[in-house]
This record gives sequence, structure tokens and C-alpha cells, in this order.
Amino acid sequence: MKVNVLLSPLSVDELYFSGKTTVVIDVLRASTTIVNMLRNGAKEVIPVATVEFAVKISGGMFGGLTLLGGERNTKKVEGFALGNSPLEYTAEVVAGKTIVFYTTNGSRAIVKAKFSENLFVCSYNNISAVASKLAELNKDIEIICAGRNNAFSLEDSCCAGKLISEILVLAENIELTDSALAVQALNKSFGKSIFKMLKESEHGKLLKENGFEADIKFCSKLNTTEAIPYLTGNTLKLLPVKQDQTIIES
Ligand code: MLT
Repeated sequence: MKVNVLLSPLSVDELYFSGKTTVVIDVLRASTTIVNMLRNGAKEVIPVATVEFAVKISGGMFGGLTLLGGERNTKKVEGFALGNSPLEYTAEVVAGKTIVFYTTNGSRAIVKAKFSENLFVCSYNNISAVASKLAELNKDIEIICAGRNNAFSLEDSCCAGKLISEILVLAENIELTDSALAVQALNKSFGKSIFKMLKESEHGKLLKENGFEADIKFCSKLNTTEAIPYLTGNTLKLLPVKQDQTIIES
């Protein structure tokens, strides 16, 4: 199994992902928010690459059952029902709903990787569940750090490093590319206190300035859920959890 990390989605085009197994990480905050929409009972999430497309497709959907969510410059987009705070997406708000979701970096990274054979969304909140799924699949992996405005971000890279360190415990014969080795080193340096690292990151500081410090705390929590969003068609759904199988011996 070969593991590669894209430190930003800019370096590749959409066709790069054809047939690949891809993990998208945008810790602050899109991937954390998507994980929590689905864990709280949203029917599905439709990630989009522009605000205009979000408005266009939601127009043809059932009013009460579809919500527009997302941000521009960390703030809710004008006319949208919800922003990009994971705390907004409670069960009361999202259960049974379709969420059309636009964010500056995260949703666009997912759309870019839409030709992947398998696409999963990872955050600190569901990292061990994602690591187990990837070890079970045993395929080459591309981890995309959504980053900031097509550039590197510390928090996505550290999360990628932690994901790799968990896969290394679960699977054998893993080959790491240079970028995969580098993010592991970053995780060792900065990942000891995830909350501190997130607060000190450029995007963390911007979120704090805009009043979203509670989101940073929420995004820093490890393994609060086993929910794994995966892409099917153009839609993110919750990966069904494998039921324990009891083997009855005769
Ligand atoms: C993004 O996708 O750019 C981020 O999730 C931005 C944000 O924190 O709202």
C-alpha cells in the first residue's frame, strides 16, 4: 500500500483522481462540519465548488428538506440557512435533510476529487474510524489537505500525519512518499496538543478573530464519532457501519 499526501489540491487536476482511493481533510472546518452533519442524521451532503451552483441546484429541490450551508471568509454566505460551524448542525436542524454545502477550500477539494473510486472525509473527530477503513481496504491512498486558498495549512497536514501514523499500526507493507513522511514529522512536532496547534495556525487565528473559538475546540476533539462520510455519485453519505458477525459453529 502506497500513501501519498497532496499538501494542497492545486498541484493536480481532476483526472489525477480517477480510480484512486482518496481522503479529504479540512480540519478547520469543512471536513469536521461534514462529519457532524451526517453523524447528526442529515440524509446527505452535496458538496459544490461555487455559491452560484449551490443556489442553482437547491432551487430545484424540496424546500423544507433541503438546506443551503457554507461560508465565505469564515462567515455564512448571504441567503444561506447555515454557515460552516459544526456546532450549527445539530440533530434538530439537520435530521433527514439534504445539505447543499459550499466552502472556500473543503467542499471544492471534494469536488475536485470526485472521480476517485473511493472518497472519504476525515477530521480529528473521526480519524481512527477512517484509519481502520483504509487499512481494511488495503489500497493505495491519496490524502488531500484542502489547505488555505490553494496553499499549505498546518492543521490539515498534521491531521494527515496522524492518520498515517494510525494506518501504520493497522496495516503492513506501507510505502510512504516524501510528503507522507514530512506530514508525519509535522504531526510529531505540532500534534501533541491539537487544540494549541489549531489555535496557533493561521486559519485558527482568523476563526478566533471572527468569534469561532468554540469551533476550534470542537474540531480538536479526537474520535468523538465513527461516522465516515463517503462520496457516492455527487453526494456524501454515511458509510454503513459493519455489523458484528457472530459465527455459530455446528
Ligand atoms: C474552508 O473550506 O475553506 C473552511 O472550512 C473555511 C472555514 O473555516 O469556514
